[in-house]
Amino acid sequence: MAHTMHDDIEKVLVTEEELHQAAQRLGAQISKDYAGRRLKVISVLKGSVVFLADLIRAIDVPLELDFMAVSSYGAGVKTSGVVRIIKDLDKPIEGYDVLIVEDILDSGMTLSYLKELLQERGPASIKIATLLDKPERRQTDVKADYVGFVIPDDFVVGYGLDYAEKYRNLPYVGILAPRVYEK
Ligand code: IMP
Ligand code: MG
Repeated sequence: MAHTMHDDIEKVLVTEEELHQAAQRLGAQISKDYAGRRLKVISVLKGSVVFLADLIRAIDVPLELDFMAVSSYGAGVKTSGVVRIIKDLDKPIEGYDVLIVEDILDSGMTLSYLKELLQERGPASIKIATLLDKPERRQTDVKADYVGFVIPDDFVVGYGLDYAEKYRNLPYVGILAPRVYEK
């Protein structure tokens, strides 16, 4: 049989069914919290797009979408601590209730930088929704307001998350076999 992406996964950490349920649960909570507000959802490219697609369809209050691309990693599995803006938002966020959607909160470098940067643009509020949270690895005091799953300190891929730009299209979240990045 031909080698597939699934062969590089040591263990499935979050199943498709669990991912679906998390999007429904967070979407319902966000719908409640943002009723009557001016919601702007900001997706951090590219890792958050699969989660974003499921999450926004579980939100039933009006919202506007914008995208931002930042990089803190290069091709490795450890943070460099340097955050670079690759693509900025298309429109101003002044007066909006901003919800940043991320794939994973790891060291927290990316989100603390992003939150500070967006804060200067005069939004009414800023909150964070993250699919995954790895609290053991935190190096800043940034906290997520909506969390899908708290996970242990393993390098994971799938459902948007990549290793060297691959594995984003896996339908579940899995632990990447260390032999893949150790070779
Ligand atoms: P932080 O700045 O260290 O919190 O890292 C956030 C970014 O690092 C995420 O948006 C991911 O792109 C990447 N990242 C952190 N941990 C993982 C992982 O386990 N798998 C894939 N990407 C990760
Ligand atoms: Mg990444």
